[in-house]
Amino acid sequence: MEFNYFDHNATTRLDDAVLEAILPYLQQNFGNASSRHSYGITARRAIDKARKQVADAVGVQPVQVIFTSGGSEANNLFIRGAADSLKPANILISAIEHPCVLKPALALSKRMTDPWNINMFPTNTSGQVDLEAVEKLLQRDKPALVSVMLVNNETGVIQNVSSIADMARAQGAIIHTDAVQGFGKIPVDFSVLKVHAMTLSAHKIYGPKGAAALIIDKRLMLRPLIYGGGHENGLRSGTENVAAIVGLGAACELAQSRLDETTKHILPLQEHLEKGLLAMGAVIFGAEVPRVTNTCYFALPDIEGDTLVVKLDKAGFAVAAGAACSSVNPGQSHVLAAMQVDPMLARCAVRVSLGRSNTLTQVEDFLQTTQRIAAELRHMSSITV
Ligand SMILES: Cc1ncc(COP(=O)(O)O)c(C=O)c1O
Repeated sequence: MEFNYFDHNATTRLDDAVLEAILPYLQQNFGNASSRHSYGITARRAIDKARKQVADAVGVQPVQVIFTSGGSEANNLFIRGAADSLKPANILISAIEHPCVLKPALALSKRMTDPWNINMFPTNTSGQVDLEAVEKLLQRDKPALVSVMLVNNETGVIQNVSSIADMARAQGAIIHTDAVQGFGKIPVDFSVLKVHAMTLSAHKIYGPKGAAALIIDKRLMLRPLIYGGGHENGLRSGTENVAAIVGLGAACELAQSRLDETTKHILPLQEHLEKGLLAMGAVIFGAEVPRVTNTCYFALPDIEGDTLVVKLDKAGFAVAAGAACSSVNPGQSHVLAAMQVDPMLARCAVRVSLGRSNTLTQVEDFLQTTQRIAAELRHMSSITV
């Protein structure tokens, strides 16, 4: 059975060119980038090159790139690191942030000493952060910190980060965006987004797991989460994972240079997929607003998402139910709750996230298989009720 991978928002397969770039740094070029000898110099040069590749891909200078162990660490570094260099105040985040933004922000509000106040921007029923509510909350709370993701990992809905940044800056706030699901799918330029900090992660863009970056405005004050030898300008100590960082650099360069080609390849697949799903009676979340082309978050009423995912897996299709990036936290999707989706329908949510290797034939097979499984499940429930 040929297996069809449709879960690219969870993670992606390493690109061959990225693997090729990484391999020398796992064996022959194994030096510690802090060493003064030639092994160290080779490793340091590789990190410098990767820093430039990441910086070029998002239009910043290399000094603005801080390497971390993942998007989760980068988001924590912003929330906790920025908060620790300020007096306790208000923090505003959107209600649909990934848990690695949501939870450190909540933790700030639960600190025993000097707790912060947290509030959340609501979304409309399409999953777009509501700009009118943003304006009102910003004026009321005058937050010190704001974080709004660029693209939601479940719905693929694109947020209007630059407008929110304008409003946040007008109130004197520092603003961050988690661009982990946006970079490689839509154009991402740090200065166009007008944020003070932005998160990227390698494994969502055909790079390795365990490598990411927090891009920062040079004037942003941050306290490190990890103290030690003072790596990454003192902001993230620890011997650099050279191979992973090389992979992140290569993946960023590739993602940027292939953006148009990737979109052109994936858009017709998404269109075919959604036409087929709608014909089956599916609800597609966020369909009315701008979304990235690779993501389709849908529900077939009365077909439980978890059940469909298991059946599809057995039939050779890897898709995700609900909040798949955090299936360690099962339960109803907080994103669908923020969109005021009926909990009964939310239980039916399934996410397909397409990637560069998917084909129209795979999508057509997926539609036929889903239709067959849905008919079987409906038939079974009609005889058991
Ligand atoms: C929107 C978003 N932010 C952050 C992360 C975390 O990134 P990482 O897996 O690199 O820690 C993810 C991944 O699931 C994500 O989808």
